[in-house]
Amino acid sequence: MNYAIEIKDLTVYYNNTCALSGINLTVAKNDFLAIIGPNGGGKSTLVKSVLGIVKPQNGEIKIFGQRPEKYTVPIGYVPQFSHSIHDFPIMVIDVILTGRLQRGTGLFHRYSKKDYEIAENMLDKLNITHLKDRQISELSGGQFQKVMILRALATEPELLLLDEPTANIDNDSKTQIYEFLKEINRSVTIILITHDTAAISSYVKNVACLNKKLFYHGEIELDNDIIQKTFGCPVDLIAHGVPHRVLKNHGE
Ligand SMILES: Nc1ncnc2c1ncn2[C@@H]1O[C@H](COP(=O)(O)OP(=O)(O)OP(=O)(O)O)[C@@H](O)[C@H]1O
Ligand SMILES: [Mg+2]
Repeated sequence: MNYAIEIKDLTVYYNNTCALSGINLTVAKNDFLAIIGPNGGGKSTLVKSVLGIVKPQNGEIKIFGQRPEKYTVPIGYVPQFSHSIHDFPIMVIDVILTGRLQRGTGLFHRYSKKDYEIAENMLDKLNITHLKDRQISELSGGQFQKVMILRALATEPELLLLDEPTANIDNDSKTQIYEFLKEINRSVTIILITHDTAAISSYVKNVACLNKKLFYHGEIELDNDIIQKTFGCPVDLIAHGVPHRVLKNHGE
């Protein structure tokens, strides 16, 4: 089996706070995996561990069979909080082009014709070509998120990690983004952290339920018991967070 990611016995602490405990998770090549779980459940920490931003206390991670430090292909990453660069004085096209820098070219790299072609093609994919020369500070939240996703893809990754990319995005734009991700998924393995369960049922191949431990990993057939265990104490969170009706129910 050709795995995109293999995680064995992963435990992460921040000082005395245990964020992840004994996680074992394998993600197949070309999977589209959603990670769900309550706030503080360790979802971002898991993704940051794969990126090597967070150092685990215990455990092993392999990316396409390689240890993270040996894996040299850029990993496409859209962080949960990228708002801090929203006010930066830089144009949309230039943000996307920075993704090209991760392709092994140095800081003083002059972008090639191919770099521009790739970046412009990307804008076209999400119908935001008209925003090409706009300052990113002038973009709406949804437009900005699209640019962040395109920047991640401009690195031509084999693996794309998205941390709540559709929070605060309207339904039409969400659909556009998910359709785009579905297309990308033909050649790229995708891990998506989301609270958007409607998307999970229609776009994603597998789901992982995370709350410090991994409570479930598999096809999208969650029953209430798993949701209850993952989200700790159930009814409220099911009502406000994960509407279980969008997930298949074993009991029905
Ligand atoms: N840099 C940090 N320093 C200390 N504690 C941290 C740090 N980052 C996260 N934590 C703690 O680790 C736990 C897991 O946090 P994490 O951000 O991974 O959760 P999450 O599932 O992504 O939550 P959310 O849905 O709110 O984004 C939380 O208890 C959090 O307070
Ligand atoms: Mg998070």
